[in-house]
Amino acid sequence: MIEKEDLPLFAEWFNKPEVTGEYNPLHQMSRTEAEKILENPNELKPFIIEKKDGSKIGFVAHFYVLHVAGKLLEIGYSLIPDERGKGYCTEAVLIMVDYLFLSRDVIRVQATTDVRNVGSQKVLEKAGFKKEGTIRKSILIRGDWRDAYLYSILREEWKVPKILTKATLQS
Ligand SMILES: CC(C)(COP(=O)(O)OP(=O)(O)OC[C@H]1O[C@@H](n2cnc3c(N)ncnc32)[C@H](O)[C@@H]1OP(=O)(O)O)[C@@H](O)C(=O)NCCC(=O)NCCS
Repeated sequence: MIEKEDLPLFAEWFNKPEVTGEYNPLHQMSRTEAEKILENPNELKPFIIEKKDGSKIGFVAHFYVLHVAGKLLEIGYSLIPDERGKGYCTEAVLIMVDYLFLSRDVIRVQATTDVRNVGSQKVLEKAGFKKEGTIRKSILIRGDWRDAYLYSILREEWKVPKILTKATLQS
């Protein structure tokens, strides 16, 4: 989970179209709203993606999707432009999926992506997600209602952790 000191950086990235890209809605999150993230653990939970050298290059976040059983989590992610195309997002999504299935009582993890966002679709497919279909006109991007693909990975498809272990989580 994000540290308090990284909340201003997260809010800056979240609000920056260069980071969230052309296929995400434009966001407006104030620093005060960002600080509330730590108080509302059931809402958006961001994690900063950090390289081995300590540099911070983006974020991957999870949030609950409204559902009567409350067992569905959705993820979203963005990388700063200079660090894209190097495999980092795929690795971050693999780690997030391990983390969620190891630590949460969820049956599926899902993601949605604008149908034009080929990079994001490749990340999900490489991380083991399956495309379920098209959710028509479900995201408002730059004034247009756009179609998105819904992807998911089920607990039984994930089977075992790919990168994390239970021991890593407890340490
Ligand atoms: C989409 C995004 C997260 C991908 O992250 P990334 O770290 O560049 O992805 P990876 O390096 O792990 O790439 C995974 C695969 O996708 C491919 N890929 C990445 N960006 C691509 C693009 N724009 N077009 C086509 N393929 C792309 C890579 O080549 C790689 O495939 P390969 O292993 O067969 O070569 C990144 O471009 C981004 O932050 N975009 C803006 C925010 C965004 O769109 N977020 C997702 C919203 S749903």
